[in-house]
Amino acid sequence: GVRAGVGCVLVLATSVTAFLPAPLPGQYNEDAFWRNFPCPEDAAIAPCICSFSDNFTLTCSDLDSKEQLAEIFKATFPINRFDYFVLENSNIGQLQKGVFGDIAFSAVMLDSNNLTLIDEEVFATSYNFLKQLYIYEDNMGDELDFPIKDINQFTKLEEIDISGPYKTIISLTLPELTSARLSLDFMSTLPATTFTGAPNLITLTLESSPIINIEPDTFKSLTHLESLEILYADLSNLVESSFAFNSENLTYVYLSENNIQTIEVGALAGIHGEAELDLSSNRLEELQEGVFIPVVKELTSGHINLAENPLLCGCDLLWIASLSDEEKQRLQGVAKSCNINTEDYDMDTLLDFLVYQCSTHTPGSPQM
Ligand SMILES: *[C@@H]1O[C@H](CO)[C@@H](O)[C@H](O)[C@H]1NC(C)=O
Ligand SMILES: *[C@@H]1O[C@H](CO)[C@@H](O)[C@H](O)[C@H]1NC(C)=O
Ligand SMILES: *[C@@H]1O[C@H](CO)[C@@H](O)[C@H](O)[C@H]1NC(C)=O
Repeated sequence: GVRAGVGCVLVLATSVTAFLPAPLPGQYNEDAFWRNFPCPEDAAIAPCICSFSDNFTLTCSDLDSKEQLAEIFKATFPINRFDYFVLENSNIGQLQKGVFGDIAFSAVMLDSNNLTLIDEEVFATSYNFLKQLYIYEDNMGDELDFPIKDINQFTKLEEIDISGPYKTIISLTLPELTSARLSLDFMSTLPATTFTGAPNLITLTLESSPIINIEPDTFKSLTHLESLEILYADLSNLVESSFAFNSENLTYVYLSENNIQTIEVGALAGIHGEAELDLSSNRLEELQEGVFIPVVKELTSGHINLAENPLLCGCDLLWIASLSDEEKQRLQGVAKSCNINTEDYDMDTLLDFLVYQCSTHTPGSPQM
């Protein structure tokens, strides 16, 4: 149905444009009716621009007010479904319910519009069409709630990318969602149920949100997950099962640029095979055997990156000496974080030293 419809529009478009010359710049006559199939009249939607090439797109830039936006959508639209709607660099404030009339969109990009409120149902006509949603707002100091309160109504939503001064998130119930990037400037807690209703997520990025803690099993229901990134957050202690995964295709767990100081036993689970676990640029001082050995044993060609951590490099690292050479290769950046220069040779020297110093006697035991 939908495919056949799109095909038909394409055929029609090709044959229409074959007969109608495109207007040349400067040739536009205000009195003349002109519209480019399948767009509305240019003048009726100015300064928005409708285009039809790879896809059917409406781009609105530099609008002054929500009233101006409302006026534009009162134009006659011959076809009420756009592939792509862009609203950018405008001073809109609020997207009011009904503003888009009966127009629906497959992809929406709202970029820097001074939006502090998006009414529920403003995109109701797109509930069964919208596949991609992008929202970017500058952080002007105000803390706002999650911008799209009815997000779970979008039954076809596949990709979301939301950045701005938001402090809360809604638990997502989006069965088609495969990709989410969230950069919520004031969100410090992430409820454990946030993603349980989005079981088809493949890539998930949480960036620049001051999240302090990840609750147990937050990601465990994501059986298709390939990449998880939590960067520039405020994670300091990873509790048991916080990074427990159950995905055969997991290849990338990126927790760099946090404040991770402690990792509880069992915090990292299900990171296996070719996966890369990046813990670089954190504040780890010790590497506990019980935390890391299970991960090292489950990796094959994958790695754990521990560079740029203020490791103390004491007897807590003795367990590394018990690993096979292949297993040792799965730990990267340890020597560097111990301030040893050339990794291979000097790591062995360090381990020899630890074996000698740490296993034969216990320096802390009282002398009788
Ligand atoms: C529409 O085309 C633009 C520019 O080629 C592209 O960036 C965008 O992803 C397309 N959108 C859809 C929904 O296909
Ligand atoms: C957004 O609002 C601020 C403060 O009201 C104003 O200074 C700025 O020009 C507005 N941005 C746009 C794109 O109109
Ligand atoms: C894992 O990846 C393979 C190859 O891309 C794919 O066929 C399979 O469905 C994926 N498994 C899951 C659970 O997503």
